[in-house]
Amino acid sequence: MIALGKLFRSTAFKLSLAFLALSAIGAGIVLGIVAFEVVSFVDDETKKTIAAEADGLSEQYAQGGIRRLGFVIEHRAREPGSSLYLLTNFAGESLAGNVARLPAGVLDRPGFVETPYETIDDSSDDRRALARIFLLPGGFRLLVGHDLRDRARISGLMVRALAISLIVLAVLGALGGLFVARRVLSRIDAMSNASRAIMAGDMAERLPVSGSGDELDRLAENLNMMLARIDALMTGMREVSDNIAHDLRTPLTRLRNHAEEALRLEGDKKAYRAALERTIEESDSLIGIFNALLMIARAETGADRAQMGDFDVGEAARAVADLYEPAAEEAGATLNPTIEPGIIVRGNRELLGQSIANLLDNALKYGAPAPTLALAAPTAPGGDTLALARAEVRLSVKRVGDTVEIAIADHGAGIDAADRLRVLDRFVRLEGARSRPGSGLGLSLASAVAHLHGGAMRLEDNAPGLRVVIELPAKPAALGDPSQQRQTAAACADATS
Ligand SMILES: Nc1ncnc2c1ncn2[C@@H]1O[C@H](COP(=O)(O)OP(=O)(O)OP(=O)(O)O)[C@@H](O)[C@H]1O
Ligand SMILES: [Mg+2]
Repeated sequence: MIALGKLFRSTAFKLSLAFLALSAIGAGIVLGIVAFEVVSFVDDETKKTIAAEADGLSEQYAQGGIRRLGFVIEHRAREPGSSLYLLTNFAGESLAGNVARLPAGVLDRPGFVETPYETIDDSSDDRRALARIFLLPGGFRLLVGHDLRDRARISGLMVRALAISLIVLAVLGALGGLFVARRVLSRIDAMSNASRAIMAGDMAERLPVSGSGDELDRLAENLNMMLARIDALMTGMREVSDNIAHDLRTPLTRLRNHAEEALRLEGDKKAYRAALERTIEESDSLIGIFNALLMIARAETGADRAQMGDFDVGEAARAVADLYEPAAEEAGATLNPTIEPGIIVRGNRELLGQSIANLLDNALKYGAPAPTLALAAPTAPGGDTLALARAEVRLSVKRVGDTVEIAIADHGAGIDAADRLRVLDRFVRLEGARSRPGSGLGLSLASAVAHLHGGAMRLEDNAPGLRVVIELPAKPAALGDPSQQRQTAAACADATS
């Protein structure tokens, strides 16, 4: 149950009150305008009636002079209604009519006048009239008027309507305000409770979303997405620190053991040297691991996003392939790059180059048989050809629709479908790989870099061997780009065939 004080203090309630005040002012203005129009209309009608009556009397005056006029007025004054008449002589004494008293000086000014008055049979002082004064020859004065009670009644009605509508508005506004405030407050309270749970350490908790799609829902959805991102980053950080704790302990222990061993070698300078060299090697490998971990963490958090630029991905891949040419030779493999020119991507050239290098390194390490093996290949028919085919590593960069496909394929043992996701985790090395150097970070980095560029990396069966495909969004090809023209031509050919 939400406390009433809290409801009254809520922004929703205060906003409702502000709207209520505005509506009340609006209602007042509208009713004021209506009242003014009605009163003006009544006044106009009264003036018209007075003018018509005055015309009639003027005719009588023209026909029979002051006597006839007095007679007609006396006759009309006796008729029921709200018409008022008064005829006075030059001394101001009443000769005929139903008006008994007027404020002093009213009869001196010809024209329309609004004035209080008393009748012969009613001396209450709240009577008002709209009247026209005429000056007649001989100092006679004629007043033709109309009682304004109807107008006063209409004005009273208007004021009552305004008061009633203000009361209704106030009640409805207050109730509406309380209802809205309650609804909003209960949702805000639910959100505060959820955020308190999150602050207490329950990172799986999320802000409630009502499903109405309103601004509170949008806010909750955005905050939930932010929480999911923070959660993912924290999990990543935790994984990195766990990895460091577990997986770096072995090489560090090895380093320590080498140093300890060296200490035991007494006096042998050569042995000391060899031990120190081994220590430096181990340290370099450790530094390499730290650098790789750092690169993965930066790619995963998107820290390098600001340094992205446009570059020719084919050129970058060829540069890496050139670097790996001697290594391929040494491994008894042929490196076959098939690269479409002019494919531009937006990204970090250094990171993408490092990913391609990791994949080529893997293909040569696990996909190409050692040269000795190639030499010892069976001499059975087709045996040499098989050995040669197995040692081929293909690198291809091509554009497929709006994406760039970078693929590295080998003919080695490949990776079982069940392990293809697992190997993307940090420090995961499969059984057959233990005899080769490495720390299990190459694929993790390549995958993180693909994600950083808005793409993805997948492992496929190359039957036999492994095919790793990195898909990245490509920048739209410039007009006249030969590769694009080739693709368009190919698409046209496909469509017509
Ligand atoms: N082309 C491949 N053919 C067969 N197995 C592979 C291939 N590439 C990777 N693997 C397997 O996946 C594991 C993870 O590869 P990853 O590149 O992440 O680490 P690594 O090569 O062992 O070490 P690092 O790349 O850090 O030097 C490897 O240990 C290996 O077992
Ligand atoms: Mg590797």
